[in-house]
Amino acid sequence: MSKTSSTTLQRGERRRITVTLNGRERTGYCESRDLLSDFVRHELGATGTHVGCEHGVCGACTVHVDGVAARSCLMLAVQAEGRRVDTVEGLAPDQTLGDLQRAFQRHHALQCGFCTAGILMSCADYLKRVPDPTETQVREMLSGHLCRCTGYTPIVAAVLDVAAQRNGCSDGCSKGSSKKEPEHA
Ligand code: FES
Ligand code: FES
Repeated sequence: MSKTSSTTLQRGERRRITVTLNGRERTGYCESRDLLSDFVRHELGATGTHVGCEHGVCGACTVHVDGVAARSCLMLAVQAEGRRVDTVEGLAPDQTLGDLQRAFQRHHALQCGFCTAGILMSCADYLKRVPDPTETQVREMLSGHLCRCTGYTPIVAAVLDVAAQRNGCSDGCSKGSSKKEPEHA
């Protein structure tokens, strides 16, 4: 059998994997034990993804895998082979901020910014699934993230603002904050 069998890697041996990163096919090398967070940062150069706890707790490393928010510190890079991975850089193609990022800017929803990339990725995914959330729902979604600076209030305001704008409420009013909270939010 070949020394470089595709199923048995020697310690320290690196494997070539290809992902679609922010819409572009990218190839890099990683060991079987390498985390997706380290692969996108160090091998593919997408350093917008931050790494905090490396235990799945802080949410800083959140990316999208096949369109769904995922902790990249809880996934091995080899598990992403052939899949679509989107990072915070993908929210601003052509260096133009998207509406969610502009809302964060308007509401000063970040201070040091360390947590922000992950929070943006979670919010982007969440707003696709829940386009008109209540404040309670936004806070519940954000409970998966640790921010040591903002106290969360401006982040919540930014998310409700962008939801309102997407729903055609141009004066900044939030449908989410005015509608009745669901019984099982
Ligand atoms: S670094 Fe992944 S959840 Fe904290
Ligand atoms: S803005 Fe500093 S940790 Fe969130």
